[in-house]
Amino acid sequence: MGVKIVDTSLRDGHQSLLATRLRVEDVLPVAEMLDKAGYHALEVWGGAVFDSCIRFLDEDPWERLRLIRKACPNTKLQMLFRGQNILGYRHYSDELVELFVKKSLENGIDIIRVFDALNDLRNLKCAVDSTKKYKGHCQIALSYTTSPVHTIEYFVNLAKEVEQMGADSICIKDMAGVLLPSDAYELVSKIKQAISIPLELHTHCTGGIAEMTLMKAIEAGVDIVDTALSPLSGGTSQPCTEALVYSLQGTQYDTGLDVAVLKKAAEKLTATKDRFLAEGGLNPKALTVNPSILKYQVPGGMLSNLMSQLKSQGAMDKYDEVLREVPRVRKDLGYPPLVTPLSQMVGTQAVMNVITGERYKLSPKEVKDYLLGNYGKAPAEINPEVRAKIVGDAVCITHRPADDIAPEFEAMKEKYASIVKCDEDVLTCALFENVAVKFLEKRNAPETSEENEVIEFNVVIG
Ligand code: CO
Repeated sequence: MGVKIVDTSLRDGHQSLLATRLRVEDVLPVAEMLDKAGYHALEVWGGAVFDSCIRFLDEDPWERLRLIRKACPNTKLQMLFRGQNILGYRHYSDELVELFVKKSLENGIDIIRVFDALNDLRNLKCAVDSTKKYKGHCQIALSYTTSPVHTIEYFVNLAKEVEQMGADSICIKDMAGVLLPSDAYELVSKIKQAISIPLELHTHCTGGIAEMTLMKAIEAGVDIVDTALSPLSGGTSQPCTEALVYSLQGTQYDTGLDVAVLKKAAEKLTATKDRFLAEGGLNPKALTVNPSILKYQVPGGMLSNLMSQLKSQGAMDKYDEVLREVPRVRKDLGYPPLVTPLSQMVGTQAVMNVITGERYKLSPKEVKDYLLGNYGKAPAEINPEVRAKIVGDAVCITHRPADDIAPEFEAMKEKYASIVKCDEDVLTCALFENVAVKFLEKRNAPETSEENEVIEFNVVIG
């Protein structure tokens, strides 16, 4: 058996390189071709896709999913799901999590990749149980990072627990692209020894090491790897699918993918990418290798966020200082992995610390919530002085945060009865309330939406 491939170009690829702006009409012809290539799965849906659809593209994300499903009758479709955060940025009630899982599967998803930013398994339980209840494939992703507590042993133990929880497969999710080749070899070897379900690797090319890391992981026995079709590969995205297919051809790891089909799909996607390049929708910086992330361990997406925050404050000269502050904040906060929503919290706190000139003089509300336990358990001990400075002697909860959240669905349904047409619409409102309401109102009144669409489109490309 060779190595299986999951294509990410229609989710992470355009999320990493094109600010998640691929429209469904760009996606469908490519999806239709990729469906014939022999992939293990296509990753096509997730939080950023959903958010971008309603915020920028005026597209119903559920309809987008149904159309992709129709275009891909032969290949499994995969989505990324933030555990109790679903596709949003806060914790939601169990009943919303369950219904979102059910509706995702009903509308066309086969594999749900679920993760928690803190690897707090209590935050995954509801999504995992629901995926199994509605007969989806449940993949649990381990948020990879390095720190004094995030050792190889930590991840091997986590993998064992996750298998026990009922995962159908496990993914090492290296969102920052900081997994070194030799560490990948050891990590994959040891996890494979400890579990009996398939193991997948997801990494990013940001630091320039991803192809080497994939190869070492493959030699260590990883079952599935994530790659992106050439036009949306490299830079802050995943390694190139075609290059890996050629590299492994004729070896025991042969992927079996049809290169003629890949070539045709890549031509189609290249035309789309060229349009984005011409219109300024692809920042060439995103394509450049940035090895400094290996030092600061800051994911690519977070770097561009930090830059735009500093630019808006007229403080770009503080960029290096902020980069150095990020690991210090992360340490003070108990080494959270830098993935949504923790990457935004740590980044914003680092910017505030530098700009105010006094560490933790100001803190975002989300950081306060995190210190009160409202996102789950921190991986390591939180600096007690920092905690005291931010939240005083307020009591930190130790139970599962969602235990405090009452059912929300019926109230949402009632509140927006005039604009929601189905349960999917209610879920859209529940996750992205203000943006969702604007989107649904526009969608429901097509005669005005056309005009608005043109304006919005000009803003995006302008
Ligand atoms: Co990713």
